[in-house]
Amino acid sequence: MTDDRLIVALDVPNALSGLQLAQKIGDAACFYKIGLGMLTGGGLALANELKQDHGKRIFLDMKLFDIGATVENAVRGLAQFDLDFLTVHGDPHVVRAACEGAAGSNLKILAVTILTSLDRGDLDACMIQSGDIPDLVTERAARALAAGAHGVIASPQEAALIRALPEASGKLIVTPGVRPTGSALGDQKRVATPASAITDGADHIVVGRPIWTADSPRAAAQAIQAELAAL
Ligand code: C5P
Repeated sequence: MTDDRLIVALDVPNALSGLQLAQKIGDAACFYKIGLGMLTGGGLALANELKQDHGKRIFLDMKLFDIGATVENAVRGLAQFDLDFLTVHGDPHVVRAACEGAAGSNLKILAVTILTSLDRGDLDACMIQSGDIPDLVTERAARALAAGAHGVIASPQEAALIRALPEASGKLIVTPGVRPTGSALGDQKRVATPASAITDGADHIVVGRPIWTADSPRAAAQAIQAELAAL
């Protein structure tokens, strides 16, 4: 069985190219992330097709943020589909509402702490309080988990700190910002390799561009699977 610790981000514009990419990757991955970039390109339909017809696990990366009632309704609607993970921003009121909306389903709510593409200068521009990013991420993770989140999204550089939190016991840590040695960073700023992310406590790693821009996405996914298998 394929290792589901690798989640491949299908950050291509529409469902057709997403399906073609998943077909190229084949059994080198069994867990896919579908995000906002594909929302208007049939992303939800692709999520259902990959899940129902191809037996893949699905992470819907919607990063929801709104008043509680709206988040709860949105999540209740999404929870009707038999999907696996859904992201919301990690503010406690958003997390509580999302968990209410997901109640009774198998959908796991993952809280976004601080985007892995942001550094301290970006947070200053957003007027986020002063402090080191790892401290802020850890505090946001603790609050989101205490509010009921099934897990958190964080940079692999913060995985070990979050794993050590009492609130993180039995919860999921999912890390984007993962780059195999030698891969281009793109806009990611707080990165680590697949192996070090898992060693530091991540349950799943999300990898996008290093796979879908590769000449052979299947070979790129296989190389990451081999790195994880060697742990
Ligand atoms: O191409 P790359 O490997 O950087 O893709 C990472 C994916 O993870 C993207 O789809 C991005 O939206 C997502 N993500 C992230 N940082 C977060 C949450 C999600 O990079 N904090």
